[in-house]
Amino acid sequence: MEDLLRQHRGAEAMLVKLAAGVGRVQREGVNGAGVLDDLRELRREIQGEVLSHFREEEQALFPVLGRHIDSASGPIAMLMEEHAIFRQLELQFEEAVAALEAGYGDGWEEKVCDAGDSIARLLPPHIEKEESVLFPMATDVLSADEWDQVRRLWKEALAAVTS
Ligand SMILES: [Fe+2]
Ligand SMILES: [Fe+2]
Repeated sequence: MEDLLRQHRGAEAMLVKLAAGVGRVQREGVNGAGVLDDLRELRREIQGEVLSHFREEEQALFPVLGRHIDSASGPIAMLMEEHAIFRQLELQFEEAVAALEAGYGDGWEEKVCDAGDSIARLLPPHIEKEESVLFPMATDVLSADEWDQVRRLWKEALAAVTS
């Protein structure tokens, strides 16, 4: 759990950089010095968020917590839906950055800003829901053995991608 909370703080730091990156695109355009590099760095951070944090929730915490609260409806289902929306926005962001990298101008600057703004709107309330509803619920209902299982599942999920 400490792990997930720490990652949330990391995500909030990423959102600050994202807002700065979007601001630079709006003011200087993608040809401004270092603007494209900032977008590439943001792409890496957004990918990292999905690869580590989202998966830790989806493949370790939710499967065990789902034993206690129905995961087909309620908070887990809602959070999963927001993860899906985030991934859709991630694709829009990556699409726009890739187009800008390839030198396409028309409209892509606006699209990268729209995707960034949408991510910035989605993530804070998502984090808030997890920290005010889901995580306290997990703290209440999961036993020490179940937390062990959460940690074990995450280790196995990591091993699955590195082996
Ligand atoms: Fe989440
Ligand atoms: Fe989260």
